[in-house]
Amino acid sequence: MAPGSLVAACRSLALSTWLLSFCFVHLLCLDFTVAEREEWYTAFVNITYMDPATSDWRTEKTECGRYGEHSPKRDAKGVVVLPASAQHDRLACDPNGRFAVPMQAVPWVALIARGNCTYKDKIRHAAAQNASAVVIYNVGSANVNDTITMPHSGTGEVVAIMIPEPKGKEVLSLLERNITVTMTITIGTRNLQKYVSRTSVVFVSISFIVLMIISLAWLVFYYIQRFRYANARDRNQRRLGDAAKKAISKLQVRTIRKGDQETEADFDNCAVCIEGYKANDVVRILPCRHLFHKSCVDPWLLDHRTCPMCKMNILKALGIAVSLRKKEKKRTL
Ligand SMILES: *[C@@H]1O[C@H](CO)[C@@H](O)[C@H](O)[C@H]1NC(C)=O
Ligand SMILES: *[C@@H]1O[C@H](CO)[C@@H](O)[C@H](O)[C@H]1NC(C)=O
Ligand SMILES: *[C@@H]1O[C@H](CO)[C@@H](O)[C@H](O)[C@H]1NC(C)=O
Ligand SMILES: *[C@@H]1O[C@H](CO)[C@@H](O)[C@H](O)[C@H]1NC(C)=O
Ligand SMILES: *[C@@H]1O[C@H](CO)[C@@H](O)[C@H](O)[C@H]1NC(C)=O
Ligand SMILES: [Zn+2]
Ligand SMILES: [Zn+2]
Repeated sequence: MAPGSLVAACRSLALSTWLLSFCFVHLLCLDFTVAEREEWYTAFVNITYMDPATSDWRTEKTECGRYGEHSPKRDAKGVVVLPASAQHDRLACDPNGRFAVPMQAVPWVALIARGNCTYKDKIRHAAAQNASAVVIYNVGSANVNDTITMPHSGTGEVVAIMIPEPKGKEVLSLLERNITVTMTITIGTRNLQKYVSRTSVVFVSISFIVLMIISLAWLVFYYIQRFRYANARDRNQRRLGDAAKKAISKLQVRTIRKGDQETEADFDNCAVCIEGYKANDVVRILPCRHLFHKSCVDPWLLDHRTCPMCKMNILKALGIAVSLRKKEKKRTL
């Protein structure tokens, strides 16, 4: 490998390393800044009721609930109560709607269906009637066991959780059979969910594509440059070859005869083949007066354009000008 291309290879390696590390740092930064984090808590939901058929107490505890975003994360307990307004309206969207709170002054928990108004409205309506907790059951989610972290800022000190639809329906069916259900809500596990927002994904993709384009453009530019360079060198080489042929044709040729001084033993040998001259050898005489076998020196001149003995340039000596591309002039001449 020529030293020039070695340098170029090193440079391209350095640049691609730089680009890669840039991408890496870029992604790392995004990971820490743009990604959003959300903290949420699960809730244990314990329901206790007396089975009317067998008069047995039944109790059931699952970690199916999820605390609302603005709910105090504390335990709550009470008798489960539905909105009383209409038999099938479990939404508690009407500010004047009442809950079927039992007469005794016991703590109670409101059970409300999701939908038609905001969580905040539902929770405020129940809190206004002194509910100790509000349980909203999910409705119509793609995965039946799903819950979400409800936003409900400004609802105060009332505990609010969401439970999945099957659990809500289960309690609802008990209440509709006039069974008293006591619910205990306790704090479950803390969860940290990391979201990568859509804008950050778009940002990462765009910057990645831009970097790809930059490096690709650079690569293309590099190879075009190399190609042009090689092309120019070939052209210069050809021109020099043509000029050398022309020069050679102008040089004097002679055939050695018997008794010429060149045939004498103390005369210099041909510097190319290191042999002496014999009668009938055809020799070429260069402008510097050095002579060689024609068959020996012609290929040499075609390649080097200089006398093998004294390095004199035959193109210069004969005044043959060659127009070369600047870049290559220094190297080939
Ligand atoms: C549910 O709570 C009741 C009291 O409110 C308790 O007696 C019962 O053991 C609890 N059930 C579970 C499974 O923890
Ligand atoms: C809830 O809203 C839907 C459409 O928005 C409506 O059809 C339905 O009657 C509403 N339910 C109640 C109980 O108001
Ligand atoms: C809620 O409790 C307060 C005092 O604790 C009482 O004055 C108010 O009447 C209660 N509201 C209802 C709807 O029971
Ligand atoms: C929902 O949860 C119940 C029990 O918690 C489970 O039996 C059921 O398979 C779950 N359904 C889905 C769709 O995950
Ligand atoms: C539940 O009790 C109410 C009165 O408090 C009564 O009108 C209703 O029929 C009862 N429902 C069942 C299923 O027993
Ligand atoms: Zn020779
Ligand atoms: Zn010479």
